[in-house]
Amino acid sequence: MYYKSCQWVNRGIEFRTDSLRLCCYGYLQGRETEYQTTIKENYHGELLDWNEIFKIKEEMKAMHKQGKYLEACKDCIYLCEKDWDEENYINHFTLNHWTKCNCNCIYCYTKDDKKAFNAYKEYPIYPIMKDMFKKGIIKKTEESCIIFGGGEPTILKDFDKLIDLFLKHGCKNIRINSSGIKYSKSIERGLKQGAISLVISTDAGCKETYEKIKMVKTYKKVWENIRKYAKAQSDNNLKVKFILYPGVNDTYEEINKWFDEVLKNKVTAVSLSVEQDWYNTHQPEFTPDIYEKIAYMEKCSKELNLDLEIYCEALAVLREHKSA
Ligand SMILES: C[S@@+](CC[C@H](N)C(=O)[O-])C[C@H]1O[C@@H](n2cnc3c(N)ncnc32)[C@H](O)[C@@H]1O
Ligand code: SF4
Ligand code: SF4
Repeated sequence: MYYKSCQWVNRGIEFRTDSLRLCCYGYLQGRETEYQTTIKENYHGELLDWNEIFKIKEEMKAMHKQGKYLEACKDCIYLCEKDWDEENYINHFTLNHWTKCNCNCIYCYTKDDKKAFNAYKEYPIYPIMKDMFKKGIIKKTEESCIIFGGGEPTILKDFDKLIDLFLKHGCKNIRINSSGIKYSKSIERGLKQGAISLVISTDAGCKETYEKIKMVKTYKKVWENIRKYAKAQSDNNLKVKFILYPGVNDTYEEINKWFDEVLKNKVTAVSLSVEQDWYNTHQPEFTPDIYEKIAYMEKCSKELNLDLEIYCEALAVLREHKSA
């Protein structure tokens, strides 16, 4: 049936540390309503009753068919009008079930209690994924995606086993966000096969700014690892990201130095984002300055022949600017 809905309501799930949600994008419409996309509270890694989950999805789909949307979903950039199939399956999932990390970014959601987030023991996700494959819940389609959020994926206990499982089942479009501090042979293999797309956010073009943002002394190591991944990649599937953080790294000098590092390390694709808290406290009205920086980075990427991916926060800024 043709109606306005999103992939996540239809086919998605987000595994969180203590709950399940339809997606992880509710915050784009505001922190107060993001909880509305929760489909199971108090979840700690039990095998799932998929009939129960698909029933919730059916109710949400029925709302969308009538043109009704949760506050968290109204105006979401992931809504689109198309002919949705009626079959129940999962082909979009986000793994956000752990918080431990080997980095210490000043903008990270873990910053207020790093010690507790690093000590938090994650539930094992491998048996859940295995069960989903066994029950035929996961359907591979052109639009499928598996997103690793976290925490740092490369330090997850079952990381190599999980990647093996996904690659064995022929999964593609496995999106891994990593600090880049620990080099992973599994990621290298997935990059070579074109099944993994890796994003490493360095946010800086020099050691000083990097250390100010990341609070770890790994600037050189991370760019060395990026260079190794860049060698292994098959089709622009390594991206280095810059999160524009006004007042911290948003100078033209920093941006230019970052592009120099990108070229020096043979990176062919980049990503651009805007710091989420800054975005949330400023939306929907942004100063022209942030728009100009985004436009400048778009221009540089084009001139340097770099593939550019623009994240939802930056896209929303562009959209606001155009409609102003
Ligand atoms: C929470 S991180 C976890 C994965 C991994 N440790 C990393 O940072 O890449 C997932 C993604 O969100 C991005 N991210 C984290 N905090 C952010 C913030 N405050 N604003 C914008 N992006 C953020 C990271 O750059 C990363 O690409
Ligand atoms: S409309 Fe947006 S916020 Fe709502 S479930 Fe879909 S992706 Fe998530
Ligand atoms: S690397 Fe990722 S998880 Fe780790 S502190 Fe930075 S944003 Fe947070």
